[in-house]
Amino acid sequence: MAPPCDTRGTEAAAEPRTEQHTEPQTSDEEPIIQEPEGHEPEATRRVADVTESARANRGWWDRNADEYQTEHGTFLGDDRFVWGPEGLDEVEAELLGPPEELKGKDVLEIGAGAAQCARWLAAQGARPVALDISHRQLQHALRIGGPFPLVCADAGALPFADASFDLACSAYGALPFVADPRLVLREVRRVLRPGGRFVFSVTHPIRWAFPDEPGPEGLTVSASYFDRTPYVEQDEEGRAVYVEHHRTLGDRVRDVVASGLTLVDLVEPEWPAWNTSEWGGWSPLRGNLIPGSAIFVCARD
Ligand SMILES: C[S@@+](CC[C@H](N)C(=O)[O-])C[C@H]1O[C@@H](n2cnc3c(N)ncnc32)[C@H](O)[C@@H]1O
Repeated sequence: MAPPCDTRGTEAAAEPRTEQHTEPQTSDEEPIIQEPEGHEPEATRRVADVTESARANRGWWDRNADEYQTEHGTFLGDDRFVWGPEGLDEVEAELLGPPEELKGKDVLEIGAGAAQCARWLAAQGARPVALDISHRQLQHALRIGGPFPLVCADAGALPFADASFDLACSAYGALPFVADPRLVLREVRRVLRPGGRFVFSVTHPIRWAFPDEPGPEGLTVSASYFDRTPYVEQDEEGRAVYVEHHRTLGDRVRDVVASGLTLVDLVEPEWPAWNTSEWGGWSPLRGNLIPGSAIFVCARD
């Protein structure tokens, strides 16, 4: 499976307002694993724990942020809030609530990348904080600019005090990549105020049963939907350089519930007629037949 997201500065630019610490949980002073020049990582399915997954993905996003933003920046828009390759825009979806009610809200964007969503939120009058594990992704956020803090940290250890935010959101950020999604969801619940909402999008779980190809070859089941073994790209020494984790739809629902959040809605965006672009394995051909993204709308009591 090709990375869905692939179909997809300076240190944290500004201090969070309520931070407890600002260092990535998984940096652990360990060096980022560099892929040797000319060496193609081996794609496999094998176990990868929390630490290995975070380290691999931090390195992958640092190395690939420039290419990612060049390839997808136009589609994402500097200040649009797009939930996934289908192009569902928060302006029409209103999954965080009516835009006019975002004014003055403290909003955490998790796995923000270049913080396009946070920029849109700021334009609505919200007070976003954009968090990402990748320093290089946040440098792109800095390059584009925006009047909000950027925080370099792991979603599994949010550097904020309890009840710091009214809302949290994540468009394909963090959740597809972490080995322990409940850790992230519990952290999000902790930093949300009562009555808050967390909305996150991930690769639709059904996609794991199909080859990650945009053409007809991507329409024939080739793997078990029930095989939760992570997708791992590894270097010559067997060290992971990219990891994605599969959860079935039921797993995701159970993760939300076990983390103390309430599932309000599960949105499976349909491929719109206007979207003729491909994004890795996402394409109009496949998008018209099978879902590509799953968006979980969760409430914190
Ligand atoms: C597909 S991008 C999504 C960003 C943005 N919404 C977009 O569409 O470009 C995934 C982002 O999640 C970040 N990420 C991956 N694992 C993370 C983790 N454990 N904690 C925080 N961010 C993480 C990556 O660095 C990357 O910027």
